[in-house]
Amino acid sequence: MVTTATVVPGIDVLTSDIDIPGLGHLPINAYVLHGADPVLVDTGSIAQADEFLAALRTVVDVGDLRWIWLTHTDFDHIGLLHRLLAENPDLRVITTFFGVGIMGLFEPLPMDRVNFVNPGETLTLTDRALTAVKPPAFDNPITVGFHDDRANALFSADCFGALLPALPERADDLGDDELRSGQVTWGSIDSAWMHKADPAVIAADLARTRAVDPALVLSAHLAPASGSMLDRMCNAIATVPSAPPFAAPDQAALDAMLGAAIG
Ligand SMILES: [Fe+2]
Ligand SMILES: [Fe+2]
Repeated sequence: MVTTATVVPGIDVLTSDIDIPGLGHLPINAYVLHGADPVLVDTGSIAQADEFLAALRTVVDVGDLRWIWLTHTDFDHIGLLHRLLAENPDLRVITTFFGVGIMGLFEPLPMDRVNFVNPGETLTLTDRALTAVKPPAFDNPITVGFHDDRANALFSADCFGALLPALPERADDLGDDELRSGQVTWGSIDSAWMHKADPAVIAADLARTRAVDPALVLSAHLAPASGSMLDRMCNAIATVPSAPPFAAPDQAALDAMLGAAIG
């Protein structure tokens, strides 16, 4: 099931609630930025493309969309990408050289409808400017988030995601321990490379992120968060390099899960 909610006037979020056995709930979020040139940020999961499209139609006319900001090419972000391009010939995809390359191995993007924006560059639309940023944590080297100057919102892609016992409507509703634990576990899984990273390098990245000073932090895998939570969330990410690496379930665990399912 895909639900919709208004984050602030002019920004809607579409969310699938994924229950990962033994680990908790993870949202998959996409966002609609309404305005003169409506933007869709990511396009839901491949597995839930039909539900996502139905939900999307309740918040925006697909024919009105002008841009898709593709944060990266993982399966939970590209579900409707080509269907929307087929439905709306005026829609263009914001991605990078390597985003195009990876999509070329699955379903090539039409090159005349691609717009490259690299970290540090700004795409100026009619009523907002989107500045590309590289989030401090990511699972795919293609990842490019952005800052929207109109809402002062930081779109952080997979960064700041959290595995949680249940999904809140707002990340602000979470307790400190619950949020930190959920973000560290997610960071250990999604950005496992951080265990090999120099904590000082991570800290410098996080300082740059804090300096953005957004009013909103909008992650693909966390409920909308107020900017006042950014410091806490950065502190959680800073502990990922020293956190225990995630130990995935082994075959015995799978046998036990299947046995329990069969009853
Ligand atoms: Fe990802
Ligand atoms: Fe993701």
